[in-house]
Amino acid sequence: MIDLRSDTFTRPTKRMRLAMAEAEVGDDVWGEDPTVRELEEETAALLGKEAALYVTSGHMANQLGLWVSTRSGEEVWAHENHHLIGDEQGAAVVLSRVLPRLYSGDPFPARELLDGWITGLGDVHRADPALLWLENTFSGRVVPLAEQRRITGFAHAHGLKAHLDGARLWNAAAHLEVEPAVVAEGFDTVSVCFSKGLGAPVGSAVAGDADTIRRARRGRKLLGGGMRQAGVIAAGALYALRHHRERMVEDHERATRLAELLSELSGLEAVARTNMVLVTTPGGEAGRYVEAFAAQGVRALGGGDRVRMVVSLEITDSDIEDAAKAAAKAVAEL
Ligand SMILES: Cc1ncc(COP(=O)(O)O)c(C=O)c1O
Repeated sequence: MIDLRSDTFTRPTKRMRLAMAEAEVGDDVWGEDPTVRELEEETAALLGKEAALYVTSGHMANQLGLWVSTRSGEEVWAHENHHLIGDEQGAAVVLSRVLPRLYSGDPFPARELLDGWITGLGDVHRADPALLWLENTFSGRVVPLAEQRRITGFAHAHGLKAHLDGARLWNAAAHLEVEPAVVAEGFDTVSVCFSKGLGAPVGSAVAGDADTIRRARRGRKLLGGGMRQAGVIAAGALYALRHHRERMVEDHERATRLAELLSELSGLEAVARTNMVLVTTPGGEAGRYVEAFAAQGVRALGGGDRVRMVVSLEITDSDIEDAAKAAAKAVAEL
């Protein structure tokens, strides 16, 4: 089976497991786990921020980023398809009790939209806007640096903070051929995942200035997210950070190859965006295609007219060729 459902399905490599087995550990709730500290310091440095906090998941990193920059009843501005909105069980509303103001369509908030939303600020009827949210990559799409500057600049000019859901920030940096700090620039808080394309088994981080991360650390404990000898898992994340960032371009090249091969199949249009291949199927029948691909040994995710295939660490060049052949067989038999 070639599993292209998500980059979260990667399993730790042998060397990563070895690093985990040999990790020096301590009680991280007391700030005494040297491996967790090393991971937090290295992550903060890579992102150009003062501090970072290791947490269990991207979901928790996002929620802490939201929690430290908003008060109950304030607005967070986001896209309706951001993970924060559709994939975190409404935690933004439950935990931080904020009001999401959502745009749709365009992947990034247009100048006119932002100008419109900022008009009437201070009107007694309105909730106060507190935070502008971006995701990079967003469904594999990289935020152009000029857009990043425009949007974070707008936020700060109007007294909002900016958060980046950088679950796949490493892919964006690899694609743009820049340091991760460039992709994190202008954001007050940034969440990153070690457990996606980097291939670590567990964990994410939220980064920002020292005082913000001190508050995030308190928030993590409030949520019951304090971990004890977490160095065992942090060592996997540290290994991934040191050894798997640069190879991500290979995933992007393989995704491009897969999209080319799939586009040759009757009725399918495929585009590659960093490590994701998005396939448009005829007649809103993505579900049928996903089933047909699975019957030929290729796992993908799909809904509506869109099948998503994600390339990551365990996928080889020959997997790409085999996946395309299997898809061709599936399409021929549909
Ligand atoms: C863009 C984005 N943000 C956040 C998350 C949440 O990460 P986790 O699954 O570690 O909670 C995901 C997970 O797929 C994601 O795709």
